[in-house]
Amino acid sequence: MKLKSQLLQPCFLLALRFLALVLWSVPGARALDNGLAMTPTMGWLHWERFMCNVDCQEEPDSCISEKLFMQMAELMDSDGWKDAGYKYLCIDDCWMAPKRDSKGRLQADPKRFPNGIQSLANYVHSKGLKLGIYADVGNKTCAGFPGSFGHYDIDAKTFADWGVDLLKFDGCYCDSVEHLENGYKRMSLALNRTGRSIVYSCEWPLYMWPFHEPNYTEIRQYCNHWRNFQDVYDSWQSIKSILAWTSSNQKRIVHVAGPGGWNDPDMLVIGNFGLSWDQQVTQMALWAIMAAPLLMSNDLRHISPQAKALLQNKDVIAINQDPLGKQGYRLRKEDNIEVWERPLTDLAWAVAMVNLQEIGGPRFHTISLASLGQGMACVPDCTITQLLPVKSQLGFYEWTSDLKIKINPTGTVLLRLAAN
Ligand code: GLA
Repeated sequence: MKLKSQLLQPCFLLALRFLALVLWSVPGARALDNGLAMTPTMGWLHWERFMCNVDCQEEPDSCISEKLFMQMAELMDSDGWKDAGYKYLCIDDCWMAPKRDSKGRLQADPKRFPNGIQSLANYVHSKGLKLGIYADVGNKTCAGFPGSFGHYDIDAKTFADWGVDLLKFDGCYCDSVEHLENGYKRMSLALNRTGRSIVYSCEWPLYMWPFHEPNYTEIRQYCNHWRNFQDVYDSWQSIKSILAWTSSNQKRIVHVAGPGGWNDPDMLVIGNFGLSWDQQVTQMALWAIMAAPLLMSNDLRHISPQAKALLQNKDVIAINQDPLGKQGYRLRKEDNIEVWERPLTDLAWAVAMVNLQEIGGPRFHTISLASLGQGMACVPDCTITQLLPVKSQLGFYEWTSDLKIKINPTGTVLLRLAAN
């Protein structure tokens, strides 16, 4: 009893908070020193929604062509995406011609990109956006287009000359682990030598895992973000598997993330066909908790107002982009409810509660605030705002309080706890 009352002394509690501030401010491992991705990259990437559709005769509106990217650029500018933070418009696989040019440079497919990538980059820049492109560390891209093996310098230079701002570097068709590792490092150095600011998005750990555990400290020194796990699909099964992989590997990966380098759980598929509303809320909330790059893969020409509002939700984006840059983690799982938390600047915390039970209706879950943030999330008291599924002020709470929350099946309630 005596200890308890001593613990609750304001001075002691304030000292705890100060300690928290110091602890959370300790910088993580050294990041790739290109000054980019100080917060997770935000933008649009064509793969999940448009894949490798090269048939512009039959499907002129959804084939991979300069027209598609120009339309997306226009909408990113005019429909509030850019203002919400989505700045990188990224091309994935299947933009290339089947062969390099006579000087050994990659070239865009002349039918689908008649004006070339440089002209597309100019257009994208004129809209105040940035352009991302895709290549592969091995002999071929995953869809069979020319790979960059043996061409790292010339490809980096070509991208820089065109005015490219981000490179997604895939890992298919690599014949050895050494080739994979050296290739990712050499491309990082080659991009740096161009002198142009190019965000470097890797899939190095994903392709490394079958051989041995990746050295994340090293990967962070070469890449701005890195894919760890399989490609996202437009399904709840896929979102669940990404969350399960992330929580079961969190001891390995969470501490590595920070300004300049992020774990990449793959694209946001919100606004497509496969996720219910609650599942879309779960993806948005958890991608914010995970400090994930927010790269949407959807059709901005056809998107529901509800999905658009979710993707453009300023409060949730602010959690994703929090300047402290600490990735969140799963705190516990009990009775099919997961509680995730993420430390934020100013000693605030984001807390997500996911209901993974796929039978029955909404369920209540009660958490004691003292169990959050290593006991420090609400010390001595805090103001709690629910951000998702809808915004509502829950009000003032003391450290010793409990909070009862109702969560829909496969849905998430996202909270922000602000220190008073
Ligand atoms: C791999 C990547 C995907 C996508 C495709 C393109 O599967 O992981 O994100 O880039 O290749 O072929």
